Amino acid sequence: MHLLVTGGAGFIGSNFIHYLLRTYQDVRITNLDNLTYAGNLENLREAENDPRYEFVKADIAEAAQLEPVFADRRFEAVVHFAAESHVDRSLHLGVEAFIRTNILGTQKLLDLTRAHRVPRFVHVSTDEVYGSLDDGGSFTETSPIQPNNPYAATKAASDFLVRAAAKSYNLDAVTTRCSNNYGPYQFPEKLIPLMIANAMENRPLPVYGDGQQVRDWIYVEDHCRGVDLALRHGETGAVYNIGGMHDVPNLEVVQQILHLLNKPATLITHVPDRPGHDRRYAMDATRISEELGWAPQFDFTAGLRRTVDWYLNNRAWWERIRSGAYRDYYQKIYQQRS
Ligand code: NAD
Ligand code: TYD
Repeated sequence: MHLLVTGGAGFIGSNFIHYLLRTYQDVRITNLDNLTYAGNLENLREAENDPRYEFVKADIAEAAQLEPVFADRRFEAVVHFAAESHVDRSLHLGVEAFIRTNILGTQKLLDLTRAHRVPRFVHVSTDEVYGSLDDGGSFTETSPIQPNNPYAATKAASDFLVRAAAKSYNLDAVTTRCSNNYGPYQFPEKLIPLMIANAMENRPLPVYGDGQQVRDWIYVEDHCRGVDLALRHGETGAVYNIGGMHDVPNLEVVQQILHLLNKPATLITHVPDRPGHDRRYAMDATRISEELGWAPQFDFTAGLRRTVDWYLNNRAWWERIRSGAYRDYYQKIYQQRS
């Protein structure tokens, strides 16, 4: 099976490529990514010399860059991860890049997929499109779409464009919506890698507001397995929720990280809350479990231990990131907040 994977140099995309290469002998992967701040070819070092893998640098929002990639190959599916993915950036640095990549870029990919008759399109989306929950219940695939931050709004728009392409043109599209991922190669601006890296350097751990916001955490490999099942066996037009079944307040996650690293709780620093901060996410993943036989294989304690170990063993990877673009970004958002 020859797949076009977009955003394969990012966190989940690179884990997905590694997952496919070790799971299937007969897979071919074209990784299309324009290497934004979040794209890093170091994530794919092990795949670089694999004859089943190739990298193409291109922007999904530029049809002229996509056209030759589609024209020169016979893809059997597109698996679409490429996105601007960080809520805080969408809040503090402006939403234009999110609109361009997440909305316009998704539409360009849908157009090319249709024009070149690629048989299947898998759209990787997020639980954030559903908005926030109060105390009870969890999101199902039929929950209302009520995004509360600019990132989530652009992902919701992309979900609707995928739906529209399926309805209007019979495009064979499947959408997955997953909860918060963690694991190797996650850019250290997201909660878990940021807290691990700060704790390792004895820097303050910035917890937004009271830290009682709840997220459902999933180990990235479990998400990758869900996307792969949706790709191979998902029903045309379907949406599948994927969740780790581990809903926990942020403060508890941070405390567990400190415990694993043997660092003091005094590093925790409460900072002003994120504007419009969603209080709670929880996923009902019954559909993918019953229809496709998916279940998470990593419990949170084991997954977090593996993740902490990875950041301990790959210090050069995140130190290089933190000494460059990342530092400028944090200076900018902290200036705006104070
Ligand atoms: P990431 O930010 O780590 O990676 C995004 C990748 O997309 C990068 O390699 C970047 O270079 C590439 N990219 C960005 N704009 C591009 C463009 N215009 N053209 C080509 N490539 C471009 O993101 P991630 O955390 O790996 O998320 C991947 C996907 O999964 C996203 O669609 C995101 O919405 C979704 N998702 C993420 C999570 C999570 O917890 N991280 C949860 C659910 C869904
Ligand atoms: P994040 O990893 O940015 O994912 P998302 O916003 O997509 O859920 O944040 C996870 C949670 O952690 C969210 O409730 C915001 C919170 N958070 C902090 O408290 N401090 C931080 O420095 C960051 C980055 C996030």
